[in-house]
Amino acid sequence: NKGDFPHYMLKEIYEQTETIQDAMRGRLSREEATSKLGGLEMTNAELRSVERIILTGCGTASHAAMVGEYIIEELAHVPTEVEFASEFRYRNMPLPKDSLVFVISQSGETADTLAALRESQRKGHRTLGVCNNVASTIARESDGGVYMHAGPEIGVAATKSFTSQVTILTLIGLLLGRIRHMSTTEGLRIIDELEAIPAKVAKILEQTDHIKKIAEKYSGAHSMMFLGRQFNYPVALEGALKMKEISYIHASGHPSAELKHGVIALISADVPSVFIAPDDSVFEKNVSNIEEVRARKGPIISIATEGNTKIEKVSDDVIFIPPCPDFLSPILTSIPLQLLAYHTAVTLGCDVDKPRNLAKSVTVE
Ligand code: F6R
Repeated sequence: NKGDFPHYMLKEIYEQTETIQDAMRGRLSREEATSKLGGLEMTNAELRSVERIILTGCGTASHAAMVGEYIIEELAHVPTEVEFASEFRYRNMPLPKDSLVFVISQSGETADTLAALRESQRKGHRTLGVCNNVASTIARESDGGVYMHAGPEIGVAATKSFTSQVTILTLIGLLLGRIRHMSTTEGLRIIDELEAIPAKVAKILEQTDHIKKIAEKYSGAHSMMFLGRQFNYPVALEGALKMKEISYIHASGHPSAELKHGVIALISADVPSVFIAPDDSVFEKNVSNIEEVRARKGPIISIATEGNTKIEKVSDDVIFIPPCPDFLSPILTSIPLQLLAYHTAVTLGCDVDKPRNLAKSVTVE
């Protein structure tokens, strides 16, 4: 049931104020300043002996995994790697004995992800699921895991499942950090910041009309660039994927600094660039990259932090997000990009919920 929404995708984008909360519900302990993830079915001693983490999945889930790599390394200092499930199953990557593998899948039925799970288990690694569908094959076959509790995602383009996955990966980072080196004070600060996220998401959703105008302005583009650094590099990939999937505009995501190594050849007055440039440790670096694009007359749409006046001077259009710590910014920055893709596709008359050539769950290799 779409309720008052014209499309499932828009409904699901709006549900994120709740689904992010649902991903955290009952899982945060102020008393111990950490997260509680009983579904992992691992003792603290077992979690402490984890030497390496592998995150795998396909499509949007692989982008959430890439954000998770930055988050887990930042919060827990555990070496983390991401591999596409389709590559993982054939790659035969050498892994230390104490590796922990997470397979991430909204549907829990993606063929490549399921095959990665089975291959990982065959090699003897503890393999956990991050799934939304509790009745799925991956949920059943994994050695434990964390459910998203996001409710059914009907729109073919993944939206709320991405932010749920990133929230859960943050809880995993917090848990692993707290049993290693992280202080109580730091743990509590992270809990406060996590709990503040849903209200910030609501503030972003209020800007839908502003985002719609930007979408209309650039909907004639034949190609778009999405650029970000650090935690927001995977968000650039995800923003580009959303745009391609539902509007059929060619889009590609890159780490901002890679521009000058080739991508900049594509920049012209009719190729807009979306820069994900919140107030983080690499903001100034992003601004230098924006200047490089401006010098080639490329239009700039920035996703930036409220109150930043510098960004307005170098951008044609800006969408603001509320301030937050660097590692939580992907949850906020991904939302304007979902809305940008949505409004662009609607403007172009595309079938947003059922884009051509795509299926919600890819159960073939
Ligand atoms: C993107 C999208 C796909 C899925 C991918 C994995 O909008 O929907 O890229 O993310 O097919 O699906 P799950 O998470 O069900 O394994």
